[in-house]
Amino acid sequence: MRPLILIGFMGSGKSAVARRLKTQLGLPRVDLDKNIEALAGKRIPRIFAEDGEEIFRQLETRALCEALSETQIVATGGGVVTREENRKVLRESAKSGAMIVYLRAGAQALSQRIRQQPGARPLIDGDGVLDDATTLDKVQKLLEEREDWYYDVATAMVETDDLTITQTAAAVRYLYQEGIS
Ligand code: S3P
Repeated sequence: MRPLILIGFMGSGKSAVARRLKTQLGLPRVDLDKNIEALAGKRIPRIFAEDGEEIFRQLETRALCEALSETQIVATGGGVVTREENRKVLRESAKSGAMIVYLRAGAQALSQRIRQQPGARPLIDGDGVLDDATTLDKVQKLLEEREDWYYDVATAMVETDDLTITQTAAAVRYLYQEGIS
């Protein structure tokens, strides 16, 4: 079976969709954020606070390469596309047959989902819980910086703004099983 890699901004549902697909497709699943936490021996907010983003990104690249060395479902973190090294690894993996699905959502939907888990995303609310407008502003800016990269490495896209996790998982499963891109 070809690898299935989920990319997209924080709050796009990558981890939850990957969990559903693992059950539905019966394929092993890897969650990069979880593997980074295992490598560091601490939770992501603590990695950012104590070691900084650069160390986090180094661990992320290592976790990505390890995950892609086996055939499976990979849920990435939203910032995996920020490093050219990672984008190259992802493009190579698409060339070798991986399907890379961009779970797209607009800033409004993403910031609402992010606000449901306060403190979980150091790059958004690492300095304390934010109000709606500030969260939206931060999400808009970061999404603008990253969106071209998501399009650059994706081989397929699902528009998730109005979809539940179940519907998103069904859409990804359909693309995967039909071999659409
Ligand atoms: C990040 C996204 C997070 C996590 C870390 C950095 C980012 O993963 O890897 O907080 O830079 O977008 P999720 O996309 O699963 O929230």
